[in-house]
Amino acid sequence: AKTTVSVIKADVGSFPGHSRTHPKLLEKAAQMLKEAEGTVITDSFVTHCGDDLELIMTHTKGEDNAEIHELAWNVFMECAKIAKEMKLYGAGQDLLGDAFSGNVKGMGPGVAEMEFEERGSDPILVFMADKTEPGAWNFFLYKMFADPFNTSGLVIDPSMHEGFVFEVHDVIAKRRIYFNTPEDTYSLLAYIGAPSRYVIKGVSKKSGEIAASTSTQRLNMMAGRYVGKDDPVMVVRAQSGFPSVGEVIDPFRTPILVAGWMRGSHHGPFMPVGVCDANCTQFDGPPRVICLGFQVSDCKLIGPADMFDDPAFDRVRDKCCEISDLMRNHGPFEPHRLSLDEMEYTTLPGVEKQLKDRWEPLPE
Ligand code: 13P
Ligand code: 13P
Ligand code: MG
Ligand code: MG
Ligand code: MG
Ligand code: MG
Repeated sequence: AKTTVSVIKADVGSFPGHSRTHPKLLEKAAQMLKEAEGTVITDSFVTHCGDDLELIMTHTKGEDNAEIHELAWNVFMECAKIAKEMKLYGAGQDLLGDAFSGNVKGMGPGVAEMEFEERGSDPILVFMADKTEPGAWNFFLYKMFADPFNTSGLVIDPSMHEGFVFEVHDVIAKRRIYFNTPEDTYSLLAYIGAPSRYVIKGVSKKSGEIAASTSTQRLNMMAGRYVGKDDPVMVVRAQSGFPSVGEVIDPFRTPILVAGWMRGSHHGPFMPVGVCDANCTQFDGPPRVICLGFQVSDCKLIGPADMFDDPAFDRVRDKCCEISDLMRNHGPFEPHRLSLDEMEYTTLPGVEKQLKDRWEPLPE
């Protein structure tokens, strides 16, 4: 049978404020998934990135499976209950409905899933972010799968030489397109360079074999009000026809600016950290990413390895702190604050509503 990896996440409450998940929630989630092992799922691992509770599961039921999604939904509901009892901040924040109807998509949680035939050895890397949006992965996926200056395998490995296919979603117009690289490189970049609207949903080999899968949910668009950021997840397969593990994580050495951070309304540097540092503190950030590495073996998760817990990533973290100082000096000014069209999905329109009667036409 084929193996499916499902990473499903939600912010169901945190402390203090939006900084981190409470250990009681992690414990409850881990226990509930453990109890489901052997029946609904095969293996599981629970962690958090900032205030987002991350469920990593393996099973043989395929993508978008109702039982798997229901399990995740029940875990989030139970954890939200505990969060409410402790009056944690934003208890139940990302759970937009209360009646589950077969799939958590559209209900608030973020989902990245992939089904594949296990190779002789199958390393996967699970990336989890806090205080940013799904398009944050665009730059890194491009570097991994299409930039020969990052991934030397594109040049020297015959099994990668033909390139990859990128599935790009337009999250505003709700349409999708496929780009082949290297042929369509410039067209791909024309879109994914605007990550608030164009989001890479997945990458595959030209044979169709899945290589990477992301969560693309835009929470505020679904909710129709400000409920924080999406805080996306991503699964990437490595080695043997895919980029090596090192080629997959090396792009995070570059400290790019992403949208999110304080009140989901600011640009800030995307900082790769070890799991022990996956707590958003300074100005509710800066935006963070963790990466757990596993070997998938007969549907079991061998691991995890904490990939950014490494002095080799200290320099990028230092650079992120410098960039953070520069950005913070702008206070409420752009480009630290998001551009006006993106501020539409924050609490700013509420301020405009308060002031609408005070505007008057300019004199001739
Ligand atoms: P090792 O010799 O350490 O197995 O390294 C092989 C390799 O290809 C690293 O990218
Ligand atoms: P989260 O999406 O992580 O809850 O962030 C919300 C926020 O407003 C942080 O300042
Ligand atoms: Mg939160
Ligand atoms: Mg296990
Ligand atoms: Mg969050
Ligand atoms: Mg969020």
